[in-house]
Amino acid sequence: MAIIGVSMLGFFITVLLMSLQESWAIKENHVIIQAEFYMTPDPSGEFMFDFDGDEIFHVDMEKKETVWRLEEFGRFASFEAQGALANIAVDKANLDIMIKRSNHTPITNVPPEVTVLPNKPVELGEPNILICFIDKFSPPAINVTWLQNGKPVTTGVSETVFLPTKEHLFRKFHYLPFLPSTEDVYDCKVEHWGLQEPLLKHWEFEAQTPLPETTENVVCALGLVVGLVGIIAGTIFIIKGVRKGGAAERRGPL
Ligand SMILES: *[C@@H]1O[C@H](CO)[C@@H](O)[C@H](O)[C@H]1NC(C)=O
Repeated sequence: MAIIGVSMLGFFITVLLMSLQESWAIKENHVIIQAEFYMTPDPSGEFMFDFDGDEIFHVDMEKKETVWRLEEFGRFASFEAQGALANIAVDKANLDIMIKRSNHTPITNVPPEVTVLPNKPVELGEPNILICFIDKFSPPAINVTWLQNGKPVTTGVSETVFLPTKEHLFRKFHYLPFLPSTEDVYDCKVEHWGLQEPLLKHWEFEAQTPLPETTENVVCALGLVVGLVGIIAGTIFIIKGVRKGGAAERRGPL
């Protein structure tokens, strides 16, 4: 079984803590993480740099080239892809040793949490993008499929590489450009070895019902009532207090 064989003990994350930038009153912390992994038996590897949870670049292992998350990043920095390949080769060697040393113990499966949300407020007929956010899983192996009305769609889809999380787990984003309509329903289908069966996260257009406004009004009215009760109660206490105070004063000299 593929699951048993998966070993990812040679999983190395180097964390480079970055500068604390100090300006007059504001203190900012930024973290750059160099994350890489190598995995067998279906060999796969990744080498990437993460800035505060966002990818800066990764190295395409087949093409042996640096892929910037945004094209313009490449105008401000450079990275020699060959260096990443050398690291992966070391990871591979280390993994072989650790597989033997651990008596072929596979990595523990941690199933993902999946969320589907649109990129911006949804308007009918206004092009938008559905985001499938797959979080907190390990090992970094998933199959993700977008379904439109139950049928797989691939037009225009894109995805990120595996991004590292603080807990040494992974997250990943998949994107589907779409035209919101009342007819179409969508699902992000995720397969992971930690899941008993594929996980489907549903999304469909929901017309704004008048309910939220009603709720708002109820909350507003309640707030008003509480406020008024407070004013009345406060006034009563003040009056009582003044009377008591007056009585005490009168009693004072006795
Ligand atoms: C992804 O799909 C392939 C082909 O169906 C399968 O062999 C593999 O185990 C799947 N991977 C995961 C993580 O479910």
